[in-house]
Amino acid sequence: MSSQTALWLTEKLGSFKVGPKDIPIPGPGEILVKVHSVGLNPVDWKIQATGFWVENYPAVLGNEAAGTVEALGEGVTAFVKGDKVFHQGTMDNRKATFQQFVVVPASIVSKIPDNISFDQAASLPVCVATAVIPLYSQPSTGIGYQAPWDGGRAKYSGQPILVLGGATSVGQYVIQFARLSGFSPIITTASLHNSALLKSLGATHVIDRNLPFSALSDEISRVTTAPIQLVYDAVSLADTQQAGYDILAPGGYIVLVLGSTIKTTEGDNKKILGVFGSFHAPDNVALGEVVAPQLTKLLADGDIVPNVVEVVPGGLHGIVSGLERLKNNLVSAKKLVVRPGDTV
Ligand SMILES: NC(=O)c1ccc[n+]([C@@H]2O[C@H](COP(=O)([O-])OP(=O)(O)OC[C@H]3O[C@@H](n4cnc5c(N)ncnc54)[C@H](OP(=O)(O)O)[C@@H]3O)[C@@H](O)[C@H]2O)c1
Repeated sequence: MSSQTALWLTEKLGSFKVGPKDIPIPGPGEILVKVHSVGLNPVDWKIQATGFWVENYPAVLGNEAAGTVEALGEGVTAFVKGDKVFHQGTMDNRKATFQQFVVVPASIVSKIPDNISFDQAASLPVCVATAVIPLYSQPSTGIGYQAPWDGGRAKYSGQPILVLGGATSVGQYVIQFARLSGFSPIITTASLHNSALLKSLGATHVIDRNLPFSALSDEISRVTTAPIQLVYDAVSLADTQQAGYDILAPGGYIVLVLGSTIKTTEGDNKKILGVFGSFHAPDNVALGEVVAPQLTKLLADGDIVPNVVEVVPGGLHGIVSGLERLKNNLVSAKKLVVRPGDTV
């Protein structure tokens, strides 16, 4: 078998179309994965709507997948055919995940533990990477906290963190890793109907995200008088960025998931850290290789739990309507996934 089905973006700013595609052949150090489930991310609709990141068309998009190992490239010994795995994809037509078979460097692939489904596993890679890269990479890619899997568990007790947008898929992992690292209190903003969920993940205080930003500082000072040295803005719209920056204490870091629009003041001594949440990026591969096996263990032990997932029906066809829902802010505190094998 040499042909499969993929979701194509036909041209820059063009439309999506399901069609045939060759099955990529794994090169040295790579594995071929038969994809059971893929996660949908805001970046997928943003590429279609704005034309950024991808230059070669027609293009396959998609940044995360779970499935079974179908074939091994030369030199791969850590996996055997049939292993259940999950991984992050990236923007080239061999490695993007909106297709039924995809290749990936074996070194950044995680095995799926028995307590996690393919759909749950497919929801993890992008947002876990986006949480851990800025927290645990060394400067200038990250802040350089000691990772929980490397002796840093509970190390940052008594240091507060503010997570703007705790109900985002990214924010839910930031809260969980902050809990493992010991940050306290863990203060987050979200719609209050997500409070119970976020507290189950480790948030200690949930502030209504619909309050005016002018009230945020007072709300936080009711929780702690300690300086806020770490803000993770998982929304990173202009208003959340500025609110987070204004609350940040001198010497501290604000992490942004989108480009900075912050108006800074000279001499304020606050650090702004942008994140590129990809373990395929050369700066992040080494951390990705460490995280890949650790993530299997963290999930098996229940230290990290996946987001709530919703399977969008229709196989690869379902991606288009799923991305439309993400674009229109119609998804709250859950991850949309599709099963490429269901495509008819
Ligand atoms: N830089 C990178 O490498 C990278 C990687 C991944 C994602 N991102 C970006 O990060 C952002 C989040 O991605 P995601 O997949 O985590 O998003 P998502 O799960 O689709 O986000 C949906 C959530 O956003 C929350 N939200 C929206 N506006 C908010 C606000 N003003 N304050 C607080 N919460 C708000 C909503 O919370 P409620 O339901 O509680 O209202 C909703 O649950 C996107 O812009 C994405 O493109 C960047």
